[in-house]
Amino acid sequence: MKNLASELKTNFDLVIFGGDGDLSYRKIFPALYYRLLEEQIGTDDRILTLARKSISTDEFKSLLTSELNKYIENIDEKIVKKLLSIVSYAVVDINSTKDAVDIKKFFENSNDRVRVFYLATPASIFGQISSFLEDLGLINNMSRVVLEKPLGADLESSESINTKVAEYFSEKQIYRIDHYLGKETVQNLMVLRFANNIFERSWNAQEIDNIQITVSESLGVGTRGNFYDKYGALKDMVQNHLLQLLCLIAMEPPITLDADQVRDEKLKVLKALRPFTKESIKTDTVRGQYTRGKSSEGQLASYLEDINKYDSGTETFVALKTYIDNWRWGGVPIYLRTGKRMPHRFSEIVINFKHVPHNIFPEKKDIDNNKLTIRLQPEERIELQQMVKIPGPGGYRYKPFSLELDYADHFNDRFPDAYERLLMDVVRGNQTLFMRRDEVKASWEWVESILKNWKSEKVPNILYEAGTKGPGDLIMDEARTWLNSRHVLKNQQTKKTDED
Ligand code: BG6
Repeated sequence: MKNLASELKTNFDLVIFGGDGDLSYRKIFPALYYRLLEEQIGTDDRILTLARKSISTDEFKSLLTSELNKYIENIDEKIVKKLLSIVSYAVVDINSTKDAVDIKKFFENSNDRVRVFYLATPASIFGQISSFLEDLGLINNMSRVVLEKPLGADLESSESINTKVAEYFSEKQIYRIDHYLGKETVQNLMVLRFANNIFERSWNAQEIDNIQITVSESLGVGTRGNFYDKYGALKDMVQNHLLQLLCLIAMEPPITLDADQVRDEKLKVLKALRPFTKESIKTDTVRGQYTRGKSSEGQLASYLEDINKYDSGTETFVALKTYIDNWRWGGVPIYLRTGKRMPHRFSEIVINFKHVPHNIFPEKKDIDNNKLTIRLQPEERIELQQMVKIPGPGGYRYKPFSLELDYADHFNDRFPDAYERLLMDVVRGNQTLFMRRDEVKASWEWVESILKNWKSEKVPNILYEAGTKGPGDLIMDEARTWLNSRHVLKNQQTKKTDED
């Protein structure tokens, strides 16, 4: 019997610009490998890798094979062979269409197939690539273009890139990637909120005291120092990943999963974010940069050593307190935090419910508030903390316990990487998990209020030792603390911090 996935298949041609780059080897090709394994891709699909290096298709295939072996565990040679059979390589020079013979040939007689142009290149040449494709006559109504982040370095550059691409592709053809949206546990935020009735009634300012979103990374900037130094944590992580998570947590229920219905609701959240002022920038934001430190693996270099510079004002840590000024969330502090060289790698959302209004128990011991903790990665889990009576004599003695859903206990299947789902959604023409232009613009507008005030108020970076948790506590209100990683991360060397 034919596999259901293969019956629903759409034949496509995928062209990857910058196809010999790190993203391509680490994410795009492994995603293609796995979807071939799942039979969502077949030998009638085609992949054209474009890059500047002058090598033959065979040379590229042997490079690709060794890269795939780096990134895929228990690799299946048969699938690699199938993948290689649909891959070809051509040298590209986007400054001239004259030599693009191989590219033109590739597209002969293929007007009825879905055509995906994946731009895994710096965003500064997205416009030029689009115009190159137009000149070659390759953009038709079956074409889609995938834009990788970062889409610009501020509102102006992002708008300029989007305007250039829009000269050649309509918004319906543009897929702006934020890979967080493709993560399984991030997609589950929709199911958690909208397929369960118990949460919605308390999902508001009346019941929730604060929301905390943390994306903590234990690695430093690695070999990406040159790139990173132009961006920093705010632009690299908050403007996109953290704000997208916040949208999913805070948006109103969309009517359906239709791409525009979902994105309309996300946009409303972004537009309701309270911009920072000269005053709030000092009390409600903190930026930091890591200095030398230690981990259980040994000494860690400072950021400046990592990027090989004497000085840099770029932040590797940022924590913010913000508000969504609408009826549902009015007055609820939202804490966002992300940093490199933290003690652990974990991404987590904590919904802190309000305390009970009155304690009737004679013991008068503090009653902890309910918390819903959503661990997005790694060791994915959801916990709902509640107070429980300790059985036995001694009256009403109580203690917080959690109802826990540990993904590893229930889902044994392989956890697909975000790029698999996103790539297949492009092929299927589903834009729900991609950012619409107005969303990108609204998030940059809010981020600009931080950039502008950081600059005018000369908000300094606070130095923190690599391997420690960063200066986030500085923005916490007296009665609130950052909560995280109650659960030991089994696969990481754990270094005790006062948060654990
Ligand atoms: C990228 C950032 O978008 O996301 C990186 O540019 C960051 O700096 C990465 O490390 C984090 O992604 P993930 O999927 O590992 O959490």
